[in-house]
This record gives sequence, structure tokens and C-alpha cells, in this order.
Amino acid sequence: MADNERLVQKLLELKRAKKAVILVHNYQLGEVQDVADFVGDSLELSQKAAMTDAQVIVFCGVHFMAETAAIICPDKTVLLPDLHAGCPMANMITPQALREKKREHPGATVVCYVNTSAAVKAESDICCTSANAVKVVQNLGDVGEIIFVPDQYLGSWVSEQTGREMILWPGYCPTHARILAQDIQRRKSEHPGAQVLVHPECRPEAKAVADAVLSTGGMTRFVRESAADEFIIGTEIGIIYRVQKENPGKRFFAVSEQAVCPRMKLITLDMVVSSLETMTNIVKVPERIRLKARRAVDRMLEIR
Ligand code: 13P
Ligand code: SF4
Repeated sequence: MADNERLVQKLLELKRAKKAVILVHNYQLGEVQDVADFVGDSLELSQKAAMTDAQVIVFCGVHFMAETAAIICPDKTVLLPDLHAGCPMANMITPQALREKKREHPGATVVCYVNTSAAVKAESDICCTSANAVKVVQNLGDVGEIIFVPDQYLGSWVSEQTGREMILWPGYCPTHARILAQDIQRRKSEHPGAQVLVHPECRPEAKAVADAVLSTGGMTRFVRESAADEFIIGTEIGIIYRVQKENPGKRFFAVSEQAVCPRMKLITLDMVVSSLETMTNIVKVPERIRLKARRAVDRMLEIR
């Protein structure tokens, strides 16, 4: 038996013995996507975590995603195969800095992108992901000032879509910041019939030249339902493995081969197996923070 086959076999046995489920983000390596029980975007993965009756969740993504599962499912063991898998944008805001901003704007409602630590979520009123951010802000009604953290590019796009002015945090995703409008234009001239899909974390100039601005889950649905057979993809390039596998007759071109999130690529099949075998690394959120963060996450999950 080849090495990979042996690992897959071992993983299946461990999953059965430990009643585990494997949740995988769209940016993960192909070998990890292939062993997933579910592959999806941040919102879909937190919805799956909320619904599963498994006892162990092996979360293949970055730390804030595993932490969100731990916030929702305190009775389950949440494993992150590599603790170094963090999100640099999530590290661009701290709970202390957010508290200070709240003091400057007393009474403001804080909307936090799910790409934040549990401690930042605990300081926020409601969470959002790129899939539901517009709906979340629309749903707030007339609340007065809104502070949106930490992604300035997602925030400015939500402002544009909803017509709501918001106080934006200067955070951004270093991977999506590498996706430039001029690279999109170049790809469009190479593939004039292709549809251009970009993630809301991209810069405003990149979003301005796209056909659609979508979460990673939104992109997978768009591609499936579209009559087009070529797509220019403006997000982390790991998603191309998934859309190509699901749509073998269609062609996909990355805007930039530089759009790689190094932390998303740390987890390998080997690590998934050893994480479940040794039950490491367990992601847990202190109860005092978890309860406060849960309010913000639950408010988001209630919005359909
Ligand atoms: P999605 O929720 O669209 O998958 O985005 C997560 C993320 O980290 C994008 O960089
Ligand atoms: Fe964070 Fe950007 Fe990586 Fe997404 S792609 S996990 S936002 S650094």
C-alpha cells in the first residue's frame, strides 16, 4: 500500500474509534481536502461545528476557526493539527486596543469579522464572516455608530453595499492584498471570456474590476451554477484545487500565484492523522471569555 493510502486507512480507523469529524477550510492542501467530512468557508464550517454530533472536531484551517468551533461546542474536543496556523489579520487587533476604541465611541455597536481571537469576539456585539457581513450589518437596523473590525477592505465593501458609514479598523489580509487590479486586467486580456471572482478581503481597486465579490463558499456555488467555463480566481489559490475537482470541465486561473496564505498550508495529511492519534493540539477558550464571545457568534448564526 502507498504511504498516503496507509495514512487514509489509519485516519478512517481513528475517526471511527474516536467519533471524530474532519472539518476543512477551502484553502487547505489538496491532500487534506481529500480526507474531509466537509470542506467549506468560515461560516459553513462554524455551522457544521454547531450541528455535529461527533465528539472530536479535527479543524483543518487557522486558529480563529478552531477557536470559533470551541466557542460553539464546549462539550467537544477541538483539535488544530498545527498551533502555528494563525491568521496574521486576526493578530492586527487586540482586546485592549478594541476596548480603547469603544471608549472613544461610547454606545457604538461592534461588528467583528470572524477572523479575530475569542478575546476580541468577547468585546464585540456581533460577529460576521465574508459570506454574511452585508446581511449582519443590514440586520442591525438603526443602532447609531458602528465599529467594524479588523478588516478595512471587507468593512469598506460592506459600507458600500449597505450605505452605512462605519468606523473601520486598519487591518487587512496580507495574502489578499497581493491580488492587484492590474494583474486581474492582465488575466482578463489573456482569457476574455472568463468570469472574475474576488474575495471581499481584496483591495477596493481589485473588487472594482471583478464580476462578482464572494466568500470562498460563494465562489464554489457561483462556479457550479455558472454557464461560463473559465474563471479568474482572486483569492487564496488553495480553493482552485476544490473547484477544479468539482468542475472538471471548467478552467480556473489564479489572478496571482503569490496569493498563498502560508499558515493555511502548514497542515498536512500526516499531521491530521497524528493530531487525532495523540489528541493534540486541543483548542480551548477560557469559560469567562467563551461565554461573552458566544453571544456575538450566536447572534450571527441566528441570521439566515
Ligand atoms: P471565507 O469565510 O470566505 O472562507 O474566508 C476566510 C478567510 O480567511 C479568507 O481569507
Ligand atoms: Fe487570514 Fe488572509 Fe490567511 Fe485568510 S488568507 S487566514 S485572512 S491571512
